[in-house]
Amino acid sequence: MTRGAPATTTTEDGHARQLDELRRTVDLSVPYAIRAAITLGLAEHVSEGRTTVDALAEATGARPGGVRRLIGLLVFEGLFTVAGDGIIGLGPKGHLLLEERVHAMLDRRSGHGRLDDAWPGLLHAVRTGRAGFEHAKGHSFWDELASEEGLNETFDRTLAEWSSVWAPKAVEALDLTGEHVIDVGGGSGALLGNVLSAFPGTRGTLVELPTTAARAEAHLTGLGLGDRTAFARQSFFEKLPEGGDVYLLAQVLHDWPDEEAAAILGRVAAAAGSGGRVLVFERLPEDEPHHHDLAFDLKMYAVFGSGERTRDEYAALAARAGLRLESITRLHGGMHAIELRAADRSG
Ligand SMILES: C[S@@+](CC[C@H](N)C(=O)[O-])C[C@H]1O[C@@H](n2cnc3c(N)ncnc32)[C@H](O)[C@@H]1O
Repeated sequence: MTRGAPATTTTEDGHARQLDELRRTVDLSVPYAIRAAITLGLAEHVSEGRTTVDALAEATGARPGGVRRLIGLLVFEGLFTVAGDGIIGLGPKGHLLLEERVHAMLDRRSGHGRLDDAWPGLLHAVRTGRAGFEHAKGHSFWDELASEEGLNETFDRTLAEWSSVWAPKAVEALDLTGEHVIDVGGGSGALLGNVLSAFPGTRGTLVELPTTAARAEAHLTGLGLGDRTAFARQSFFEKLPEGGDVYLLAQVLHDWPDEEAAAILGRVAAAAGSGGRVLVFERLPEDEPHHHDLAFDLKMYAVFGSGERTRDEYAALAARAGLRLESITRLHGGMHAIELRAADRSG
């Protein structure tokens, strides 16, 4: 199957139009202006009645010349209006700038907003298969999250919101009754919370970096599950807690190039031993991907030098860690449960 329109010969007019479209597509001014406006909270100030450039500059601690230029351009995007007397209003799409989920995605103060800092490292990631974020900024995305108040929290919150969509459905497809479940890189505990709530008699251990582990502890204790949960505040590149019946790795492997992903899986395999089950929750590439699937996968590649893997790639990764791919079950929202077992296990 071929995707995309084939090349055609064009007239001079057609060529000029295509060149114009390309210029508009590659122009970075609008994406950056939208992010700056959102981070300054310009739409919120306008909706609260600060409707001149000077009032907005004063309220946001920004320069009037900068605010005027931002708003001037964003008028063309339908986000603001400027009347003849200079009074600023929200344009037909301006309400979007007020939405929490838009802030979570684009605000420079949000964890997910910082993913965009990887784009200057895309070429490096494509050439080397290594994290473009690190190349562009000199430190990893995870170090970036730890570097500023609020980044880690907003990142965890966005992931927890997504987990609240897919995790309950994933739990419906599993039976973990009475098991000891170890969630490696378990975030703020949304998946483990669903597992422990759904299956009585289950015990959980959550492995996470300290800040996120503290958030998970607050979450699981708040659900009344604290007495069934232990916390391992550590890196998953170190020796992992042993004795689990099932090890979960949700949306962790797609953050790491093959070398590191195999090392994490190796730690899990060693801890799980010959009898343990490993359940990896990830998206697989769609057969007929949408633009946003491809764009997000490329963004992940820019950030981490990694992204969504195919079934064969997971099988190869599992084999490097001494595991065998047993089955893949499609879940809600494009997520999949990929079950791995010790490769030398008989039966
Ligand atoms: C994409 S999130 C997935 C979180 C959760 N499993 C979920 O599905 O929502 C990846 C997680 O890996 C954690 N992480 C990153 N580096 C880690 C490390 N070296 N050791 C343990 N956890 C780590 C991050 O804190 C983050 O919570």
